[in-house]
Amino acid sequence: MNTTQETFPDCDLVIYGGLGDLSRRKLLISLYRLEHGDFLEPGTRIIAVDRLEENTESYIKIAYQSLQSFLGSPVDEAVWEKLSVRLSYQQMDLMNPDEFKIFNEITDSSKRVMVNYFAVAPFLFKAICQGLEQSGVLTETSRMVMEKPIGHDLASSQEINDVVASVFQESQVYRIDHYLGKETVLNLLALRFANSIFTTNWDHNTIDSVQITVAEEVGIEGRWEYFDQTGQLRDMVQNHLLQILTFVAMEPPVNLKAQSIHNEKIKVLNALRPITLANVNETTVRGQYTDGFQKGTAVPGYLNEEGANTQSTTESFVALRVDIDNWRWAGVPFYLRTGKRLMNKRTEIVINFKQLPHNIFTESYKELPANKLVIHLQPNEGIEIQMLNKVPGIDENIKLQKTKLDLSFSETFKNSSLYGGYEKLVLEAMRGNPTLFISREEIEQAWSWVDSIQDAWSHANEEPKGYPAGSWGPVASVALLARDGRSWEE
Ligand code: BG6
Repeated sequence: MNTTQETFPDCDLVIYGGLGDLSRRKLLISLYRLEHGDFLEPGTRIIAVDRLEENTESYIKIAYQSLQSFLGSPVDEAVWEKLSVRLSYQQMDLMNPDEFKIFNEITDSSKRVMVNYFAVAPFLFKAICQGLEQSGVLTETSRMVMEKPIGHDLASSQEINDVVASVFQESQVYRIDHYLGKETVLNLLALRFANSIFTTNWDHNTIDSVQITVAEEVGIEGRWEYFDQTGQLRDMVQNHLLQILTFVAMEPPVNLKAQSIHNEKIKVLNALRPITLANVNETTVRGQYTDGFQKGTAVPGYLNEEGANTQSTTESFVALRVDIDNWRWAGVPFYLRTGKRLMNKRTEIVINFKQLPHNIFTESYKELPANKLVIHLQPNEGIEIQMLNKVPGIDENIKLQKTKLDLSFSETFKNSSLYGGYEKLVLEAMRGNPTLFISREEIEQAWSWVDSIQDAWSHANEEPKGYPAGSWGPVASVALLARDGRSWEE
């Protein structure tokens, strides 16, 4: 065990959908990395559940192949040996509640914590919840973990939450947004609340505007059916972008406990100015990629992807101007943009500070450029402050030049591994720390805000604006900021 960590009760991590994509691409990889870092408790067991006729021996082979395909580096045999003995497979028909009785034999919930990871489509949640309840295997210490899509609008997310709530208390439910496991998103808490220069300069008095960009290089990666019914607003804004926004905008929580953080996040979500038919045109841009080039390679447009519905008007790009109607952020727009098939993968937050009221350096700059804090979330995690300095020299008047204070995480923390989001969240779910998970209230508030945009779009009935794959999105997204006299950070 990693000796710097406290110890936790042994747990049985039961993964429903153990043969599915999520399990093979993400969960097994995370568990391997946790094993590699020596983070798993010695008694932790992993029980994969699925309907196909496999057994523990064949499942272990499948798990090994998944690591080979998705790990991105050679499998360390010593780590694998430790991980593989924790694995077992249970074939089950999730629709048959009687089959859940088996858990009374294979888990011991009086001594061990049962963590139920629902890595299956939400239509199966009800059957799993009922089966678990009837089996009598659940105790107060049992948990359930789920992740998006938690519905596709407020009503469907309430339905899912109600099903889960019929068996699990809210404190037993761990809703994952994998962005909250990302190192740099968590670092926002440290940046904002452990550094006095930022705690005192973080409101409408000093900040002009905020930009949050989550640009993706990938297209829809064979997920046409899911994506076409979802769109970028529901797929990325409702969850990841709004979560980042709450971390940037929230008031200082009284401590790091889950309830304190959830309370502050929900206040931000409640303060989001609604986007309705009345303001949708000035505050939103929808886009859809057309044929183009990425890094010199031709890529098909959204409507020309394999299996595409050529009439689809689903958006693969969204830009929004978001206003937070509270004391701290009055008059400070938050510009959000996210899209598929953009020029590169880049997730960043840009805090644009206000310009100074008077300029005494007119020889260098007619208008003094304002300071900027750029937080790079991925790739190349780090923080950069753009500021002005004097150009060294004795022979002239003071001449200014834009410079950067640059903190690259990979350079500064050379000896620490930067884990992806899943490792952190899977570990926290097993340890029973709910701080980084999303409460029901947050999910539902976020849906209700997003539903209003979706509703306004369907009434406005406008086609999405085209943008060539490999660009930074539709021209209209530039115009969205230009109207306010601003531009995107490029
Ligand atoms: C997922 C979305 O939640 O996040 C995908 O469903 C998206 O469409 C992905 O590509 C992006 O995650 P990351 O960690 O690669 O930025």
